[in-house]
Formats: sequence, structure tokens, C-alpha cells
Amino acid sequence: MPISAYTISSMGIPHFKKTPSTNVAEEDQQEKMNKECEEFILSLPKEKGWRTPYLYKFQGFWCQPNEIQAIISFQKHFQARATDVILATIPKSGTTWIKALVFATMNRQRFGISNCHPLLTSNPHDLVPFLEYKLYANNQIPDLSNLPNPRLFATHVPFASLQNSIKNNSDCRIVYLCRNPFDTFISSWHYINKVRPDSLPPLPLEEAFDMYCNGVVGFGPFWEHMLGYWKQSLERPKNVLFLKYDDMKTDIISHLMVLAKFLGLPFSVEEEKEGVIEEIAKLCSFDKLKDLEVNKSGKAIKNFENKHLFRKGEVGDWVNYLSPLMVERLSKVMDETFGASGLKF
Ligand code: A3P
Repeated sequence: MPISAYTISSMGIPHFKKTPSTNVAEEDQQEKMNKECEEFILSLPKEKGWRTPYLYKFQGFWCQPNEIQAIISFQKHFQARATDVILATIPKSGTTWIKALVFATMNRQRFGISNCHPLLTSNPHDLVPFLEYKLYANNQIPDLSNLPNPRLFATHVPFASLQNSIKNNSDCRIVYLCRNPFDTFISSWHYINKVRPDSLPPLPLEEAFDMYCNGVVGFGPFWEHMLGYWKQSLERPKNVLFLKYDDMKTDIISHLMVLAKFLGLPFSVEEEKEGVIEEIAKLCSFDKLKDLEVNKSGKAIKNFENKHLFRKGEVGDWVNYLSPLMVERLSKVMDETFGASGLKF
């Protein structure tokens, strides 16, 4: 039975919170599905995980058991609308940033860039919910039918495993953001060591690097994740916009213009003159978001403190961590896997 997945704030903005089920019959059913799912998960190939004992290979990508259960539920129940916008990333590629940018761009007529903008009091993950971590997590089947258009969701799921109605809908839009694999790796390694349970020792850099180069990382191999969306963006540019964190850091203004146009909401000449694009860039900037009280405390995603979502926010920090041999190895992996696809960093 569908359950409410959000509350509406006084500003009319849906805030997405986890809503535990209280219905006994539903819990019985969940228990059963948990067991069935558990058996299925145990039959999958597994490797040592970064944060959990194991990562399992599900539909060709690596993920944690609770994620598998949520993804199955998402694939079974989600129904895309033509007006939906889905933000897709592999973890640590700038998900928090793209959520803020797209939310601010899509809602600019409603809030302007005012002192009471929702991004000043809510973490971007509470405004743009993950399909697998929030909406369909814990066996929830959310009722998303009353959400106003255009609905905005996020996911780490690779393109091939998205719900069919998203892949087949000729109007629904996907914004994919990726980041150079060197920085994505360093960002992932730092993050994992902050969120690993106290019972586990820190994950050594070398060990994590080996896993990363072998493709064993959440929602990876990273090259398959990127190539899946890259190919779609070439085949269906009206539906899939492919962005790179590194390019956006270099020139956020022109990327915001591309983004707004892709979303069907291009900035008008007046907006350009009034500096609306610069205001959105500033509101969503690393320094601005990191310093907000709401992002220094609390947990928008279960078990993960908001403050860990903001570390350095720079391009090229990997030079401080990777040895020449490591750089050579990862470069080789990228050459071999990206091949002639045209995708480069
Ligand atoms: P670093 O660890 O390199 O600092 P995700 O949001 O996908 O988890 O990605 C996290 C990375 O994005 C972190 O990178 C984080 O600091 C950076 N980040 C978070 N908010 C950002 C923002 N507003 N602008 C640019 N980078 C941001």
C-alpha cells in the first residue's frame, strides 16, 4: 500500500522524510519480502565492501543489500511522468551541488533568490529525494501521485537499471553529472572513512584504490556508469544532458544556461541582465552551502551527517594523494574502458 513520502512546508515545498510503516499486515509482507530478497542477494557475486562487509553485483553493478531491495522496489513501482526530471550521478561526483543547482533553477520564479529560499534552511538532499535512499528505502512504496509537476528526483542507479518508464519516456529529462575519476576516488575514500562504522578500522588508501580500479565501488564500475549515460546523451540529447563537475567548476554561468535550456526553462534576457544566473551560482556554491547551519548539522540521509557532504569542493585534490604508479594505473584503466567512446577527462 502506498504511503506518504513527504510533508509540505509552509512555503509549499515538499520535504522528503523517511516514513516508517506502522501497518502490521504490511510489516508481515515486508518481512517476507526481506527474506526472499535476502536469499536472492546471497546468491549474487560478492566482494569486500567499502563501508559494509560486502558489495553485491546486482544487474551488473556493485551495491549494498539494502540498496538492492530499494532498487527492486523502485523498478517495480515507480511510474515516470513526461514532466519528470531525474538527476543521476555516481557517488561523490557532486550530487549535492547538482541537486541545489537544479532545484534553484527550476524554482526561481517561485522563490527568486530571497532570504527565505528553501536551500538556506534545508539540505539539498531533503529537497530533491533519492529514489533508492529515501523514497523506496526500507520497503516503502511512496505515493508520489500528488506531487506537483515537474517532479524532481535523484538516483545513483546506472542508466540500464532505471525504471523502464523513465528510459522509455520520450519527454522525461535526465541530468547526469560526473567528475574526473581521480577526484571522485579521493572524495569517496575520504567520505567512506568518515562514515565507516566505529567497529571497522579505516580503509587504507591503497586498498580502496585497488577496489576502485577493479570497478568494485558503489554503483560501479565507474566507467560503465559514465558510459551508460554518455551513450544515451549522444543518442537522445533532448532527454539526457551529460555534465562534468570539473567543467562546471571552471565556468558555472554558461553551464547554468545550458542546464536551464535543457530543462525547458531558459533564462530570459531580463534575468541575465538582473544577474539571476550569478545569484543561483552563488546560492549553490560550495562556500555558501557549507557554511549554512542546516548543512553543518543533522542527517538528510539516514546514517550520514550533512557536514561530511562538504569537504574541499575543488578540482585536482588527487595530486596530494596518488603516487605516480597509481596515476599510471588509473589512467590505463580509463584509456582501456573509455576507449573510442569520446568520453575524456
Ligand atoms: P570533495 O570530497 O572533493 O571535497 P556528492 O555530493 O556526490 O556526495 O559529492 C561530494 C563532493 O562534492 C565533495 O567533494 C564535496 O566537497 C563536493 N561538493 C559538495 N557541495 C558542493 C558545491 N556546492 N559545489 C562544489 N562541490 C561541492
